[in-house]
Amino acid sequence: MPKVFLLTLLGCAAAAAQTGDAEKLAPYYPTPETIVEKMLQLGGLKAGEKVYDLGSGDGRIVIMAAQKFHADAVGVELDKDLWKLSTDKIRKLHLEKNARIVNGDLLKQNYSSADLITVYLLPGFIDKVQPMLDEQLKKGARVVAHDFEFKNWTPEKVENIADDGEGRSHTLYLYRK
Ligand SMILES: C[S@@+](CC[C@H](N)C(=O)[O-])C[C@H]1O[C@@H](n2cnc3c(N)ncnc32)[C@H](O)[C@@H]1O
Repeated sequence: MPKVFLLTLLGCAAAAAQTGDAEKLAPYYPTPETIVEKMLQLGGLKAGEKVYDLGSGDGRIVIMAAQKFHADAVGVELDKDLWKLSTDKIRKLHLEKNARIVNGDLLKQNYSSADLITVYLLPGFIDKVQPMLDEQLKKGARVVAHDFEFKNWTPEKVENIADDGEGRSHTLYLYRK
């Protein structure tokens, strides 16, 4: 799907949506599993490292990080139904020891222990995340952004995937503090 179209679609769906006090920074639009793996590989995720997915949807990034990369994975998800769905998936897979989902606003968490952060949020909204990460992330922490970049940061690496197998192209950005 062309990115311009996707952006319009996502923008319309997210427009001014609020949940309680929290602002919805993107609608639910999952990253394909093949791209999830590329994001975690690009982020150099190692066993035992702490990874946070900001706006974790159905938990697929958290689950792959725990199951395949043996990381200590945390998702933050505002939507109660997605939180429940992902938490149930984690329980069924017996991954509770190193995977969990926080039901809350991603702008109100503390990421100072993170080795890796993953994000798939809309431009404009992603700008709200940047000052918080600038303040909280430890030196050497990595951030991988899917499709929409952090305007004020310079990526260490950009990976373009022309076709994910379903005709969709993706761009991944790696940043390091
Ligand atoms: C584009 S989806 C990405 C889902 C998942 N990270 C992935 O890549 O498959 C964005 C997710 O962020 C969640 N979200 C949006 N605003 C949020 C906020 N303020 N706090 C926590 N989650 C939020 C949405 O509910 C949605 O599930």
